[in-house]
Amino acid sequence: MQADRAASPSATPLFETINVSKHYGAYRALNNVSFGVSDGEFVSIVGPNGAGKTTLVNVVTGLLRPTVGEVRFLGKDIAGVGPVELARLGMSRAFQLVNIFPALSVRETLAVAVASRLRRISNPFRSLRRDDVLQADVGRVAGVLGLGAKLDTVASTLSQGEKKLLDIASAFALNPTVILLDEPTSGVSTGDKHAIMEVLVTAAKAAGVRAIVQVEHDMDLVERYSHRIVALHEGTVLADMPPDAFFADPAMISAVVGTRPKTLRKAP
Ligand SMILES: Nc1ncnc2c1ncn2[C@@H]1O[C@H](COP(=O)(O)OP(=O)(O)OP(=O)(O)O)[C@@H](O)[C@H]1O
Ligand SMILES: [Mg+2]
Repeated sequence: MQADRAASPSATPLFETINVSKHYGAYRALNNVSFGVSDGEFVSIVGPNGAGKTTLVNVVTGLLRPTVGEVRFLGKDIAGVGPVELARLGMSRAFQLVNIFPALSVRETLAVAVASRLRRISNPFRSLRRDDVLQADVGRVAGVLGLGAKLDTVASTLSQGEKKLLDIASAFALNPTVILLDEPTSGVSTGDKHAIMEVLVTAAKAAGVRAIVQVEHDMDLVERYSHRIVALHEGTVLADMPPDAFFADPAMISAVVGTRPKTLRKAP
């Protein structure tokens, strides 16, 4: 999927938000946001701290209900479906702050995710370890994400980059159609960021993932990997365009590489 700008996404979006607003009390975190993601796309959501990027991912993945508006996935309104059922339908995500259980090994972490997909979550770890089908899938997912040699490593002792990959692997373990990643490379060195992105894009191709959406602050990565950039600013969509157009606009770049707005936006 990497920089395959010739990819011609179909007209019907895999998922879309339609006039979505999200208020936290009097505070407007998202304001009338409409955007869609189509087959074959790698879309980056960018914007300064506090722009509403994580809120948008949370709304799209069912963790938050929009205050106003609609979210559609594969043509269906998914309001109230919730993240677990949405993951079953094929939408999965990785989190801004790595969401791993530090005491579990890579194998155990992925086993939990695979078991949830295979609906074997009620089984204790002992029986998961003896479940050959499940363990084969754990090995496959770990291998695709470059963690094949780390299966018996305890998560807390992984490097930051490996923790990020484990979080991404957990999302892949759900066999997603669409994957959303909230800052998949935050907190890792520049060299490791590129390595993570390469693994991610290769893994997505191998796993048949049909679209990737990432929130990303690193503009080098955004430019290199995205087919399209959605720029949020103070909860509204400032731009939705290909990277060439985005990076040709210095005012746009400075609006995106900004700082947290000092004033709160009040809902009417
Ligand atoms: N649960 C909440 N209650 C009240 N305000 C919130 C809540 N969650 C987020 N906010 C506020 O909403 C705004 C958008 O937050 P969000 O986390 O979506 O931003 P972001 O673009 O992901 O920022 P960052 O780049 O720092 O991760 C911020 O001002 C944040 O403080
Ligand atoms: Mg965020």
